[in-house]
Amino acid sequence: MRVILVAHLVALVTAQTTLDQPPGPKTWPPTSTLASTLNLAPSVLPNVLDPKAPDAQKLCPGYKAANVVSTENTITADLTLAGSACNTYGNEISELTLEVQYQDTAQLNVKIYPKFLVPSNRSLYILDDSLSPSGSIAVDCKANNSDLVFEWSNDPSFQFRVKRTNTDEAIFDTYGHKIVFEDQFLELVTNMEPDYNIYGLPEAIRGAFRLPNQYTQTFWNQYNEMNDQPIDANMHSTHPVYLETRYANGCSKSHVVYARNLHGQEWLLRPDRVIYRTIGGSFDFYFFSGPSPTEALAQQQLGVIGTPVMQPYWAFGFHQVRWGYQNWTVLQEIIDGYAAANIQLEAIWNDLDYLFQYRIFTHNNNTYPVPEGQEFLERLHANGQYWMPILDPNVYVPNPNNATDANPTYDRGKALDLYIKHGQGDDTSDYIGIQWPGFSVWPDFLQNTTQDFWTNEMKMYHEQLPFDGWWLDVNDQSSWCTGSCGTGRLEENPVHVPFKLPGEPGEINYDYPEAFDQTNATEAASASAASASQASAYPTPSTTVGTATVGFTSPTPGVRNITFPPYALNLTLAGHSLLKQAVAPYATHNDGFHITEYELHNTYGYTSGIATYKALLSVFPGKRPFWISRSTSPGSGALTGHWGGDSNSRWGNMYMTIPQALTFSVAGIPYFGVETCGFNGNADMELCTRWMQLSAFFPLYRNHNSRNTIAQEAFRWATTAESTRRVMDVRFRLLPYQYTLFYNAHKKGETVLRALAWNFPDEESLRGVDNQFMLGPSILITPVLAPLLRSSQGVFPGVPDTRWYDWYTLEEIKAARGENVTLNAPLEHIPVHVRGGSIIASQLPGNTTKTTRSNPWSVLVALDGAGEAKGDLYLDDGVSQEPTDIKQIEFSFAQSTLNIFVTGTYHDKSPLANITIAGWNSGDAQCRGVEVFAGGKSVDGSNVKITNQSGALQVTGLECVVAEAFSNDLCFKFL
Ligand SMILES: *[C@@H]1O[C@H](CO)[C@@H](O)[C@H](O)[C@H]1NC(C)=O
Ligand SMILES: *[C@@H]1O[C@H](CO)[C@@H](O)[C@H](O)[C@H]1NC(C)=O
Ligand SMILES: *[C@@H]1O[C@H](CO)[C@@H](O)[C@H](O)[C@H]1NC(C)=O
Repeated sequence: MRVILVAHLVALVTAQTTLDQPPGPKTWPPTSTLASTLNLAPSVLPNVLDPKAPDAQKLCPGYKAANVVSTENTITADLTLAGSACNTYGNEISELTLEVQYQDTAQLNVKIYPKFLVPSNRSLYILDDSLSPSGSIAVDCKANNSDLVFEWSNDPSFQFRVKRTNTDEAIFDTYGHKIVFEDQFLELVTNMEPDYNIYGLPEAIRGAFRLPNQYTQTFWNQYNEMNDQPIDANMHSTHPVYLETRYANGCSKSHVVYARNLHGQEWLLRPDRVIYRTIGGSFDFYFFSGPSPTEALAQQQLGVIGTPVMQPYWAFGFHQVRWGYQNWTVLQEIIDGYAAANIQLEAIWNDLDYLFQYRIFTHNNNTYPVPEGQEFLERLHANGQYWMPILDPNVYVPNPNNATDANPTYDRGKALDLYIKHGQGDDTSDYIGIQWPGFSVWPDFLQNTTQDFWTNEMKMYHEQLPFDGWWLDVNDQSSWCTGSCGTGRLEENPVHVPFKLPGEPGEINYDYPEAFDQTNATEAASASAASASQASAYPTPSTTVGTATVGFTSPTPGVRNITFPPYALNLTLAGHSLLKQAVAPYATHNDGFHITEYELHNTYGYTSGIATYKALLSVFPGKRPFWISRSTSPGSGALTGHWGGDSNSRWGNMYMTIPQALTFSVAGIPYFGVETCGFNGNADMELCTRWMQLSAFFPLYRNHNSRNTIAQEAFRWATTAESTRRVMDVRFRLLPYQYTLFYNAHKKGETVLRALAWNFPDEESLRGVDNQFMLGPSILITPVLAPLLRSSQGVFPGVPDTRWYDWYTLEEIKAARGENVTLNAPLEHIPVHVRGGSIIASQLPGNTTKTTRSNPWSVLVALDGAGEAKGDLYLDDGVSQEPTDIKQIEFSFAQSTLNIFVTGTYHDKSPLANITIAGWNSGDAQCRGVEVFAGGKSVDGSNVKITNQSGALQVTGLECVVAEAFSNDLCFKFL
């Protein structure tokens, strides 16, 4: 191990000077003044951190309800301000409308919005369906058959509760608090029970899945290029939704609260209340009654945000990417490296390297020439593998003084006038910020012509280089200067981004994971020396340039200050500014009403996503689009998956991917994964080994790395390679199971990655467990999450009623209820357990998902305490958007008989080879034979081999008996 690591380090140190230099100034700081616009001085605007900030609950009068009208499924009322306006952080609105809808038995919607809306101000308050899906009243829904009931009072001012009909328990309760509704500040408070359990509110990197009762979550999508993994802060996505679970008397009930508003906002979790604040929009709450956690989550998807998109089968293979794959030859070497190590690789991805000076829909003619690329892709596709390049939704603006700097993509968009506008006064020019290529503009995806533009660019590109999908980056609408900084300065293009890029002089990363100094002392010492000498050669530039201070001014009557709203969100970037590293809030869309980014900023991930999804459907007619999005919001799950940002190569970051993944289950985006082995910083053998193990159970399994660190592909270290081969075997055997979970998610809103508490909702001790998680209902993962450990610890939920089997040995686990069991976990091993009562169909792993799909089937029956089990399997061609041939298979085992019921027409040609029954008996009962019936007829099963091992019954040699699995109903009687 050490030898390999030293070699890497040396290679890195000598290779650093040969990195392709990006365009622009090579010196730091850049000669232009862009750096001074990078940072605004900390603002003194009041916000949650300011103890002297005006308290709207004390200062504001609240509202009184009148003109209440109830129908069989609605309640409406006028809400009128109950005193003089407080105008704490905006202009208070005196007349509001309350609209309550009983939308479905388990779904209640409460809206409060200004009574007087005209087309020109509507978008300030109402989130259009095109920006995020909404719910509506189901045909037969009536208030008197709802699980939920809406209750209100005017004493002392308008307040409301949502209660469970059958228990009278309030799941949401603003009693004792005021409704505050200003044009730039909304506040509402709900009472919480002591020590409450809430989960969700992504996206944030957090040290716990169960949210603390003293915690603030801010939403405003931003990207911090210096540290993309701030803890407990705003990140790339906005999902104002939480799941709450309440335990009583050995049972639990769960509900979901979703606040449909995508303005910048804050959720203040306090010991006895949750305070919800936004800087615009309206109140639009959805309540889902559950009562189980998975039911509540399904109700949210089926009723409002949509169920998850069905992914193509190949999405579940393993994906490799790195920023720093310099040319097609290097890509080929990586592919060959995986093949030589006998590790499955489904897709090779490209970060920015393939582009000409980072410009979208181009390629670098020197390093990624088209003819060589076409040969490369032909070879790749023939091997059943895929190519996934990066795509950014910003377009480079060429230098007007340089004819060879032309950018045809820009010209085509400009001809259609579809870029987001500067929006200052009467200025109708484009908003020009900074992204990777230099001064850039952003397509306005709200215009119809933009879809045609986006589709056309993608189609033309595909004709040159037949990519298989995209990963859509920086669509949290990041821009690395403040305001339209490129206006009037285009002759400087291509400008360098206003910070040093990884790999540029002075930007080699010498960080290693925790405990590297213990496992690799010599290398750690030389890395630390190299780091010190880099630091003295390249002193860190000061980042605190710019001194403008933004003073707090009371809101001006009739005026909205959208650049510095009176209430400052507690954003992670210095100064809490909405403008930092993002397209400015005053930039406008071309929709006739000039809606500003203040309203739309958090929707850009979704709107750029719809365009990308539709464009991919045009490029691949009838096929499921495969792409992932860095920025998401409610509704995105019906289009795409998501990765968790540029994670750090640290053990703590690896652990925090579990809470992050589970919060995306709450948000209805199950196709989630992270930068395995860490993006920023160097991985080491041990971290990368454990991380490759953990991510193998996340739906998106991708290893990604920055270019100023050592290589970290799974084959780089012998132990990592061996461990990865073993865990890949588990992942690939579980492909049909995982694919079926996605089908059930897509059809029924079921969850894929699950907290233990969701599968065992009545076990209160599980409420905080996030060092373990489950894949669907049946697979329990207990990963190793810290360095130097050769064991992991976890609980076995449901024991003794639930039986658990070791995935690898099929031995039954002996554990007491709540016992923290220590599991042996040498470096090559991750503990995986199968829940008794499950039946899982798997195929022998091939080198890609394609070859796997033609391999023989096995069926694993894991018996419960009554000697029974069941399971299901969904099959189709794995790619069609609307498959016509599908097959659904139900497995059930009882009284020593396995029944397999088959419906549908999809034809799978592989045989059924093995049946394994875990928990058959504690070892002494023999099985003398098996009677096989196919399609109701008895079949000769005399050649079948039966052995007993570790209490499991192994039936092999079935392939001659069942040459095509699942072409008929099957029945196996074990005698
Ligand atoms: C590809 O990039 C590698 C690494 O920079 C370099 O060694 C190699 O010569 C390049 N090959 C081609 C064909 O450009
Ligand atoms: C790359 O080469 C092609 C074909 O010669 C040409 O059309 C294209 O403009 C070149 N791209 C760049 C960015 O120079
Ligand atoms: C003009 O633009 C091209 C492409 O970006 C660049 O290679 C060239 O150096 C530029 N010429 C000048 C004089 O800046």
